[in-house]
Amino acid sequence: MMAKAIYPSLLLVLFIFSLSICYTEQLQSSQASTLLRIQRLLNFPDVLSSWNNYTDFCNTEPSPSVTVVCYEESITQLHIIGNKGPPSLARNFSIDSFFTTLVRLPSLKVLSLVSLGLWGPLPGKIARLSSLEILNISSNFFYGIIPEEISSLVNLQTLILDDNMFTGRVPDGLGSLPVLAVLSLKKNSLSGSLPKSLGNLETLRVLAFSRNRLSGEVPNLSSLTNLQVLDLEDNYLGPLFPRLGSKLITIILRKNKFSSGIPAEVSSYYQLQRLDLSFNRFVGPLPPGLLSLPSITYLNVAGNRFTGKLFLNMSCNTQLGFVDLSWNLLTGSLPNCLISDSKNKVVMYARNCLATVDHTQHPFSYCRNEALAVGILPHQQSKPRRASKVVLALSIVGGIVGGIALVGLAFLFIRRVNAKKITKAPPTRLITENLSTGYTSKLLSNARYISQTMKMGGLGLPAYRTFALEELEEATSNFDTSTFMGEGSHGQMYRGCLNDDSLVAIRCLKMKKSHGTNNYMHHVELISKLRHRHLVSSLGHCFECYLDDSSVSRIFLVFEYVPNGTLRGCISDGRAGQMLTWTQRITTAIGVAKGIQFLHTGIVPGVFSNNLKITDILLDQNLVAKISSYNLPLLAENVAKGVTGVCSSGSKDHSVCRRIKYEDRTDVYDFGVILLEIIVGRPITSPNEVDVVKDQLQVCIAADDVARRSMVDPAINKMCSEVSLKTVIEICVRCLCKEPADRPSIDDVLWNLQFAAQVQDAWWGDSQSGEGSPVSPSHPPHRQITIQ
Ligand SMILES: *[C@@H]1O[C@H](CO)[C@@H](O)[C@H](O)[C@H]1NC(C)=O
Ligand SMILES: *[C@@H]1O[C@H](CO)[C@@H](O)[C@H](O)[C@H]1NC(C)=O
Ligand SMILES: *[C@@H]1O[C@H](CO)[C@@H](O)[C@H](O)[C@H]1NC(C)=O
Ligand SMILES: *[C@@H]1O[C@H](CO)[C@@H](O)[C@H](O)[C@H]1NC(C)=O
Ligand SMILES: *[C@@H]1O[C@H](CO)[C@@H](O)[C@H](O)[C@H]1NC(C)=O
Repeated sequence: MMAKAIYPSLLLVLFIFSLSICYTEQLQSSQASTLLRIQRLLNFPDVLSSWNNYTDFCNTEPSPSVTVVCYEESITQLHIIGNKGPPSLARNFSIDSFFTTLVRLPSLKVLSLVSLGLWGPLPGKIARLSSLEILNISSNFFYGIIPEEISSLVNLQTLILDDNMFTGRVPDGLGSLPVLAVLSLKKNSLSGSLPKSLGNLETLRVLAFSRNRLSGEVPNLSSLTNLQVLDLEDNYLGPLFPRLGSKLITIILRKNKFSSGIPAEVSSYYQLQRLDLSFNRFVGPLPPGLLSLPSITYLNVAGNRFTGKLFLNMSCNTQLGFVDLSWNLLTGSLPNCLISDSKNKVVMYARNCLATVDHTQHPFSYCRNEALAVGILPHQQSKPRRASKVVLALSIVGGIVGGIALVGLAFLFIRRVNAKKITKAPPTRLITENLSTGYTSKLLSNARYISQTMKMGGLGLPAYRTFALEELEEATSNFDTSTFMGEGSHGQMYRGCLNDDSLVAIRCLKMKKSHGTNNYMHHVELISKLRHRHLVSSLGHCFECYLDDSSVSRIFLVFEYVPNGTLRGCISDGRAGQMLTWTQRITTAIGVAKGIQFLHTGIVPGVFSNNLKITDILLDQNLVAKISSYNLPLLAENVAKGVTGVCSSGSKDHSVCRRIKYEDRTDVYDFGVILLEIIVGRPITSPNEVDVVKDQLQVCIAADDVARRSMVDPAINKMCSEVSLKTVIEICVRCLCKEPADRPSIDDVLWNLQFAAQVQDAWWGDSQSGEGSPVSPSHPPHRQITIQ
């Protein structure tokens, strides 16, 4: 052939060219048919509608939703980004056959399959895509564990599995990926603790695990010298602040269980721009240096228990555009550098104890008390092992939406009660015994705190504090039935035994509305003030939150446990074995009246309409009367209404005004009913009976001493002085007046009872010394008694 002779080299070139075309086509057709098969397996999604038998995949314009990149006859990048919306895969879709198809593109370095509705467990055969450098399969429905095989993808630089339904633990093997720079597993249901091996990923720049159910300590990441972004938002991690390198740009620890202080080195994170520690339980002083970090633009520490004093002259980075200090225990003054009229600067600081003119701040004493309470919180260090239980409890709670009563669940945990624990007497301790080390000693060296301590010590109660759910679960053996004390209209009551052997009563309130904890802080603050010798006092609270939106599912209120039974039991029940004398009865009545007085005037706003019943008056081992059931601010709709002075003389609606003005007298009436039973010594249960007995007493006031004594409990009618008895009967009858305005004030009641006690004392002393007859009081009352 001539041509062959003349143009051998040209032919050779042509031949090679055609060979190469032929070779290329061959390769392309196998990979192209793989792509078409992928299209079919994905059920022909809209974004792939342009793909057909004639598409030249390597030479189509990339679009935001579909990109194919080829290199030397092979597909090296494949991006398919589906439309958000209902998944459109065939019913018989098999993730396994999908990946079997996919691994026929063995040169893939970059694979993005996003929002395609892919569902099923991620097959381990993904490891066959051994060239993969970037894998992004976010926003699908992958479930099950993340396969260990993924750690054999040694070229992987970016692994993004966000927004799927992966469960189980973060695989240990991820820590051995030699060049991994971005690891993002956000919005899954991963649980357990983070593997320590993550601390080996020296090339890592981004670590994002937000919105999972991870718990436990964050592993030591201080050797990740390249780490810039750490996002752990919304897990159960803690309690210690993570150990990190110093090049961090973004740290997000929001909504976890961190409860330590901030380590000093955070003030040396010179590149830090964004620091979000909000809604944890961080404690300790807020490092003032945070505001002036050289790069900081966003600082959020809201919803923690940071303490410390801010000064007007503190300095801030001028780039700082967002600062949220709200819901902490900060005192002092808002720094001048944060007070700015610039529109692009957001500064929030409500619910601290700062000296500002607005009404968003707590009184200074609140932060002081709370700071003290936080400082002595003992359980965090000693019990890391319980963290996973909390997760379990929380996830159970999270899983139940409506329907099943949680208490029912609690009853499922039937366990034998630890009888020994419960029969022990409750040694209420001084908080000084519980002091942990650390910064509290500094707090205590402050004389103000010491005096506060002494004050609380005088009440014999530990300081009010927040409790951890696990602490309450432990105290009640997971709310075992044997610890169940009763159920009221507002929830169940359990008896618990804390770590220090003190007994407590735990009231469990199920919340109907979904609010975050912040909505309840105001109530909780009021409850924290309900501490008085004659109240079953509050010791602390605990919020339990739903997983999905962190709204409060239950609030546990912890009260002191009062062992000696009810007042009725010691008067008319006969069961208690202990029958109160007349003197003890007056003393008890005075105690109840003092408790009511405290509820009305000892806190602001006062607590009225407490629906007091004799069965709700408990006696402690020293027979000190304590009101156990009062109108908890959390439950009351009418907290603020009872404040007197609302009605000016010019008020129009007199009936409403009158009702509000005398709201305190409802409790006075209830007190009258209690007093009635104390006098006659038998249960008085119906309103009708109250009226009848009251009328009888009314009549006998004007009669003689003998007639009056005939009305009185026979067990004591010989041991009361005439004047004392008459005084008590008179005040009782006045308390039971139909018209609230005619009832005495609680102060008036108290004065009369105190008078009756003094008279009785004098008479009893005289009768014991042999004179034997009732006499007029030797100590005149402090105040003129008004008897109508
Ligand atoms: C594409 O090719 C396959 C066989 O290779 C054939 O069955 C199918 O009908 C073709 N589709 C179109 C749109 O030509
Ligand atoms: C799924 O069902 C379709 C018919 O509806 C069938 O053509 C296809 O082969 C099936 N795919 C698998 C993986 O079974
Ligand atoms: C994963 O891919 C989607 C679609 O391209 C993108 O929006 C998303 O930002 C990617 N994820 C990450 C963490 O880069
Ligand atoms: C954390 O790791 C760094 C470097 O590996 C080491 O120096 C440091 O002691 C570790 N910290 C703890 C608490 O283990
Ligand atoms: C800031 O003011 C406080 C007292 O208000 C003072 O003790 C402190 O030395 C001042 N600091 C600076 C840097 O001026």
